[in-house]
Parts: sequence; C-alpha cells; structure tokens
Amino acid sequence: MATNITWHPSLSRHERNELRKQRGFTIWFTGLSASGKSTVATALEQHLLHLNLAAYRLDGDNVRFGLNKDLGFSEKDRNENIRRIAEVAKLFADSSTIALTSFISPYIADRKIARDLHTSASQGGDDAIPFIEVFVDIPVEVAEKRDPKGLYKKARAGEIPNFTGISAPYEKPENPEIHIKTDELSIEECVVRIVEYLQAQKLLP
Ligand code: ADX
Repeated sequence: MATNITWHPSLSRHERNELRKQRGFTIWFTGLSASGKSTVATALEQHLLHLNLAAYRLDGDNVRFGLNKDLGFSEKDRNENIRRIAEVAKLFADSSTIALTSFISPYIADRKIARDLHTSASQGGDDAIPFIEVFVDIPVEVAEKRDPKGLYKKARAGEIPNFTGISAPYEKPENPEIHIKTDELSIEECVVRIVEYLQAQKLLP
C-alpha cells in the first residue's frame, strides 16, 4: 500500500472526450471458454476501427502472457486477473478509447468490482465511465463440443484443474446490458446487436 501519494487532477473526462470526438467506455464480455467472446469482441473491434474510432481489445489468453503472467486459475488468482484488467480497461476508457475485454470472468463479485470501478464517483468527481456487460451465452455442452483448443477434453481427463464449466463454477450474469447466444446468432448478428445498443445509448458519435 503506497502512502504519501496525491491524486493529480488533469483534463476532465468530459473535456478529453470532447477533444477526442468520441466517448470512452468499456464493453465487458463474459462467458465460458469457447463461447465466442474473443471472436465477437475482435469483430466488433474491427467494426469500430473501420468507423475511425479508437478501440482496443484486452484478451484473457493474451494478457496472461504479459501483465498477468504471474497468475493461474485459482479463485484468488482469477480475482486478481479481473481486478487488474478492470483497472487497465478503465485507463483505456478514460483516455477516450473503447476498451473491449474478453475474459471468462466467472465470478459475479469480480464483475461487480469491475463495474463499480467504472461507474462509482472517481477522484476529482469526474463523470462515470459507461460499463456494458455482454453475456456471451452458450450451453457448456456446446462449448465442450466446439473445444477449439482441446482444453475441455483435457479438463474431463483431469489434466486441467479448476476448469470453468467442468470443475470450477461459472456464475451467469443476472442483469447484463446485452445477452447474446452465439449458438443461435452469427458473429455479424452479434456485432449488430451490440452496435445497436451502443447507438441507442448514444455512445457512438
Ligand atoms: S478468467 O477466469 O481468469 O477470467 P481468462 O479469461 O483470463 O480466465 O483465461 C481463460 C483462458 O485460459 C481460456 O480461454 C483457456 O484458453 C485458458 N485456460 C487455461 N486453464 C483454464 C482453466 N482452468 N479454466 C478456464 N480456462 C483456462
């Protein structure tokens, strides 16, 4: 815990958004491994970039090669994984970028921490940052059948402990802003749903 540190006020979030001509916010994808989180998030990121908007995706597998390479899959490590990602996403959003995160983020409490971090009153009384939770929903049997990385098979064989959906819990969102079923919709349809939501919320210029 650092002491003797002072928060330095700078431009307000509103002023920065005005200058950058776009709003920063976080789109938080949550769902089982192989649910399609990263696929939909990548397609959406590309769409936003084509609209000339700053957007950046933080992805579970990739971030675990760097920033979070010291973390495993115990409940405690997942808590810390999500806490750090929430902080990083908030920084991106604060810089008027659209942050997209694709992490299993299996615990309701962790996702609430991520949300509260964005939406609660911040230092300097700045505007809240919109936080959009997207539940990428597929039955575990479908994820297991897809199994693109062969991880479900290994988990069933007891080779991967704490595997979400098999030997570790996934707590479904109770009230996500967006709920998409990737076994019923195409990737494009998922992207359209999200973009329509963003437009309705006046989050896109
Ligand atoms: S989270 O639970 O802490 O949010 P995160 O999204 O970062 O997980 O990482 C999930 C990815 O790590 C999966 O897509 C999968 O490729 C890999 N993985 C390795 N071990 C596990 C495990 N025990 N449970 C789930 N995913 C795992």
